[in-house]
Amino acid sequence: MEVIIQPDIKTASVLGAHIVARVVKRKPDAVLGLATGNTPLLLYSELIRFHKEENLDFEYITTFNLDEYVGLAPSHPASYNSFMWKNLFIDLNIPRHRIHIPDGLSPDIPAFCRQYEGAIKAAGGIDLQILGIGTDGHIGFNEPSSSLSSRTRIKTLTMQTRKDNAPFFEDEEHVPQHVITMGVGTIMESRICLMLAFGAKKADAVARMVEGPITASVPASILQMHQHAIVITDEEAASKLERADYYRWVYDNKPYWQKYSF
Ligand code: F6R
Repeated sequence: MEVIIQPDIKTASVLGAHIVARVVKRKPDAVLGLATGNTPLLLYSELIRFHKEENLDFEYITTFNLDEYVGLAPSHPASYNSFMWKNLFIDLNIPRHRIHIPDGLSPDIPAFCRQYEGAIKAAGGIDLQILGIGTDGHIGFNEPSSSLSSRTRIKTLTMQTRKDNAPFFEDEEHVPQHVITMGVGTIMESRICLMLAFGAKKADAVARMVEGPITASVPASILQMHQHAIVITDEEAASKLERADYYRWVYDNKPYWQKYSF
């Protein structure tokens, strides 16, 4: 696991966007796994800037979103479908038929989940998965106690996650209880996992993910087993990492051929 501590959210997001852009340039038909929530917002606006100002082309890119609320229509303002169109897709040239977001209104959720897994496989697997982390250590909506080899399926949100996501809704009562989420096993098959984590309220979860034991109680901790996981934090989210100085030292002293040069 590579831990990169950046001074602030902006610098961290720009670095994350460069890593995504590098994958897109090297493989113009790459498959990207996408996250919603506050964390990737600046990374997405930077990708839009690359597209508009530097001709970064997304015409052959395929995307799969991590999750969606069960019971929300794509047009619902708090759906992840709405979120993605508003904050990313509207400004990029990804063909609509290559954009995949779980269907929160599916009448047969298990069948839909199998089909979603099949579509990821048929696309050749995910080259780079963007991730955020929940304050309870979730990735996607794989809440604590999720099987570390789980596949796309329905999950019930924790009270904590419903509280954390309430600002996107009228109030906490309106946050759906169920979601469809890629599984931990699905996420782990991505070739690169790019996790972003910002702010003091993520500091505990980040420390447990990076330096704690691998446990289903902190689903993100399984990223310790991933062959290419990059975790980019701001200073606040890194504030509870015991080996923060070592991670800084490693990043500052990377061999020149291993550095991110943009
Ligand atoms: C969203 C997702 C979640 C979020 C996490 C952090 O698609 O899969 O795991 O990444 O809940 O949310 P924010 O970024 O709002 O703090």
